[in-house]
Amino acid sequence: MITPTAQAPSAEFGEGGRNRLALVRGDGAHLFDAQDRRYVDLGATHGAGSLGAAHPAVVRAVQRQVAELIHLGSGYANPVRTAFLERLLGLLPSQFARVFLSNSGTESVEAAIKIARSATGRPKVVAARRGFHGRTLGSLSATWRKELREPFEPLVPEFAHVPYNEPGALEVAVDERTALLLLEPVQGEGGVHVATPEYLRAARAACDRVGALLGFDEVQTGLGRTGRLFAFEHSGVVPDVLTLAKSLAGGVPIGATVTTSEVESRFQGSHHSTFGGNPLACAAGLAALDTLVGEHLAERAAELGRRAAPKLAALSSDKVREVRGLGLMWGVELRERAAPTLAALEAEGYLAISAGATVVRLLPPLVISEEDWLGGLDALGRAIGHG
Ligand SMILES: Cc1ncc(COP(=O)(O)O)c(C=O)c1O
Repeated sequence: MITPTAQAPSAEFGEGGRNRLALVRGDGAHLFDAQDRRYVDLGATHGAGSLGAAHPAVVRAVQRQVAELIHLGSGYANPVRTAFLERLLGLLPSQFARVFLSNSGTESVEAAIKIARSATGRPKVVAARRGFHGRTLGSLSATWRKELREPFEPLVPEFAHVPYNEPGALEVAVDERTALLLLEPVQGEGGVHVATPEYLRAARAACDRVGALLGFDEVQTGLGRTGRLFAFEHSGVVPDVLTLAKSLAGGVPIGATVTTSEVESRFQGSHHSTFGGNPLACAAGLAALDTLVGEHLAERAAELGRRAAPKLAALSSDKVREVRGLGLMWGVELRERAAPTLAALEAEGYLAISAGATVVRLLPPLVISEEDWLGGLDALGRAIGHG
């Protein structure tokens, strides 16, 4: 039996090795350490835990599938994969008809970049300042933050970054050499900045003007997080390529790049992943989508976001620069570093995360109880005071 301790030295490479708190099990929005101390997840699962930990429907589906067939190469048909793809496409506007399955968010973005370059025969990708799209080299080239990029340069050529929420900048940057304009409808890692509908409409128009593809990275915003199944529904602007991951399979690793038959018909070359679309992830994904819809979790996120409004407004103080977000995706930008506030929150039994140095980010499971959610905001108010 493994008995982790908070102080155990970690063999993990990189940032994972700096975690102090060891968590061993979860139940809904609650996570527990080895001493059975309970924490409320306000973001500890980085948005991948929208269904909460150990959702019974996902557990059942995984248990059943694991005994049937864990893995199968994508060269073979599989009814679970087919059912999952049909379920996913059934939730999207009818022009979406093709899905490339992978294992993570960054892979879903890599596929979007390759699809766009190949389908348009053009090299250029335009992304936004403060945007985050992953850490493999293609996705990292679209990611903005200098400290994430610089140690690995030179990155992939022909990537440009424009200011977010400035329609005018798109007019200049998106040109005849542009394959893909890649945007998050709400920037997550970059500090929770919500795109205006006018901006997304301008993005659509800029792409249509020159024949570039519009890509929305909904790895963080998708699947109910913002109060709609997909964040693009708030504006009604439909992209040509959509990337999903995080909670798509209820916590089991998965990535999906969704596009149209028309884009696929122009795609030359090949793209493939050994584990992408494996029956285990697809079974979990099917159960997760059924749960998302059956438990009305997007509507729940919208409602819990609305109910939080007075508490979010009450966070305003001389330490708080701005509170931004929608549904169950919020950023509280402080006038100081977020780390002491996060530590004070943790001491009260609430786990949130940062988005950059000064933003406290809240991405609770969509199944969180109202009491835990509003209690977490009260605790955040106290933590900001004492952080
Ligand atoms: C918008 C967005 N795209 C891509 C990624 C990368 O996802 P992953 O960590 O699964 O590779 C993330 C991760 O936070 C994200 O928020």
